[in-house]
Amino acid sequence: SERELILAFESSCDETSVAVVENGDTILSNIIATQINSHQRFGGVVPEVASRHHVEQITLVIDAALKEADVTYDDLTAVAVTYGPGLVGSLLIGVSAAKAIAFAHHLPLIPVNHMAGHIYAARFVKPLVYPLLALLVSGGHTELVYMPSAGHFEIVGDTRDDAAGEAYDKVGRVLGVPYPAGKEIDRLAHLGQDTFNFPRAMDKEDNLDFSFSGLKSAFINTVHHADQIGESLSREDLAASFQAAVVDVLVHKTTKALDEFPVKQLVLAGGVAANQGLREALQNTLADAFPDIELVVPPVRLTGDNGAMVGAAAHIELEKQHFADESLNAVPGLSF
Ligand code: KG4
Ligand code: ZN
Repeated sequence: SERELILAFESSCDETSVAVVENGDTILSNIIATQINSHQRFGGVVPEVASRHHVEQITLVIDAALKEADVTYDDLTAVAVTYGPGLVGSLLIGVSAAKAIAFAHHLPLIPVNHMAGHIYAARFVKPLVYPLLALLVSGGHTELVYMPSAGHFEIVGDTRDDAAGEAYDKVGRVLGVPYPAGKEIDRLAHLGQDTFNFPRAMDKEDNLDFSFSGLKSAFINTVHHADQIGESLSREDLAASFQAAVVDVLVHKTTKALDEFPVKQLVLAGGVAANQGLREALQNTLADAFPDIELVVPPVRLTGDNGAMVGAAAHIELEKQHFADESLNAVPGLSF
């Protein structure tokens, strides 16, 4: 069949990324310029700093993506871009660049929802089989998403307060771990034991929703109290206890969702999908309780924000001819 090449843009937060994706499931290039070093000293992403970095990086990243894929604009089938959810100033840089290239080269422009992009990153592992359930865990979102077919998303569970990644990053501050803290807490957790028995919020409730702010507060109170009485706590045990609570709740609600929604595959997606503890726990749970459901988890380098996932999502829209025109705008609060 024909070779369909999509030039895909991602700039919703603190990564400037451009990829060339072939037929929605093959990565020819995936350049990611991260700004983490610039935000670390502030303990989180500073929107003004982020958009300035995107402006500085975007043309370099486009050129690198085309060069690495060994293609020119003439080889492209379409241009795709994340238009939400995310930081408005950051999104606008990608949207403006994608529009400029689409119209200068007479290419269709495909708008992509960032969260759909995270889910479709699983296409680089294996073909998706529907219906499927996605556990979407990132810095801004924690959702269970039911997909009856490609392009159709139903949020069946959501967080009532903090996202899982956000909880990792806030707890990281108290532990003195630089932003984004997830990876380092994951590492520490594997060196410690679950000795603190932090709360598993909403575990017993009959719904598919999550809450992480109580866990975060319990963690912070424990550390502050120990500070006040001059007691020193094991960072490894704190990390292990926090991670055990997060993973327990995520696995428990996912299991509940799988009971309610019979599916062929479970897709783990978003930045927190890099978490080794979560990957192992889901793998074990499926093997024990749902041996017929296949777990699809992107490699760690594709769980964080990247252009390739946008290209994978855009290819579904290309097949449906869902294109945008020059009026496309950033939608910071975009939902499914
Ligand atoms: O999807 P993502 O790259 O950006 C958003 O769309 O939010 O997710 C970033 C989040 C951060 O909160 C980061 O701490 C978390 O993913 N994260 C992890 C791990 N690696 C990244 N959380 C837990 N364990 C990890 N190994
Ligand atoms: Zn993301």
